[in-house]
Amino acid sequence: MVLPGALTSLRAETSFGGYEAAQSWSDLALWEEFLNRYTPAALVELGTWSGGMAAFFGFQGLARGMKVTTIDRNHCLLECGGLLERLGVKTLLMDLLAESAADELASALAGQPRPLMLFCDNGDKPREFRSFAPLLATGDFIAVHDWGSEIREADLEPRVPMVMAAECEAIASFTRFFQLAPVPLNGLGPRLAAPSLASAGVFMPSKGNF
Ligand SMILES: C[S@@+](CC[C@H](N)C(=O)[O-])C[C@H]1O[C@@H](n2cnc3c(N)ncnc32)[C@H](O)[C@@H]1O
Repeated sequence: MVLPGALTSLRAETSFGGYEAAQSWSDLALWEEFLNRYTPAALVELGTWSGGMAAFFGFQGLARGMKVTTIDRNHCLLECGGLLERLGVKTLLMDLLAESAADELASALAGQPRPLMLFCDNGDKPREFRSFAPLLATGDFIAVHDWGSEIREADLEPRVPMVMAAECEAIASFTRFFQLAPVPLNGLGPRLAAPSLASAGVFMPSKGNF
């Protein structure tokens, strides 16, 4: 980790527990607050790399009782397999761009406690979002990294409401969080439901917001 850049630059990679993580310290702060507010029961990271971020999630999982899984197509760069095992993090090998990926991931997600957070930080974020968001259930979450460079609002298909948008925007973070909107109890359609989502602090991305 290089200081002071790691404290100020959104591009700076960092380390957690001594293992490299491809996130900035401000990303870690956003994740801490996201987990405080939304308390998912399970988290699946797509893209393990060195394992530093998986270790961060694993520690969060131990502290919060959240089940953590991390997936990559190879573990050549994974430096902390033993630590992840001790933290209870499940490590899976999967080619997430293979034709069978959606089926394989669906099997990995089946039986996970809900709500679940799916963190897309892999080779092709728009494709991951498109292919894997439909595997999630109402009330689940999906997050992406490299917002604004590798994935943008135009890539959000299916469209799902953003949460913690103001916090992420305030620091122009590369992280964005979304929740598959709960079905409104009053039976009103999505257009009429939108104001109640907005008043609950849920932000619907639309052209011109970014
Ligand atoms: C940016 S790194 C992940 C960083 C990690 N999430 C972190 O925060 O430290 C991207 C990872 O995606 C993995 N990856 C790329 N293409 C993939 C594919 N088709 N299937 C599975 N993993 C893939 C790479 O092996 C690499 O480890």
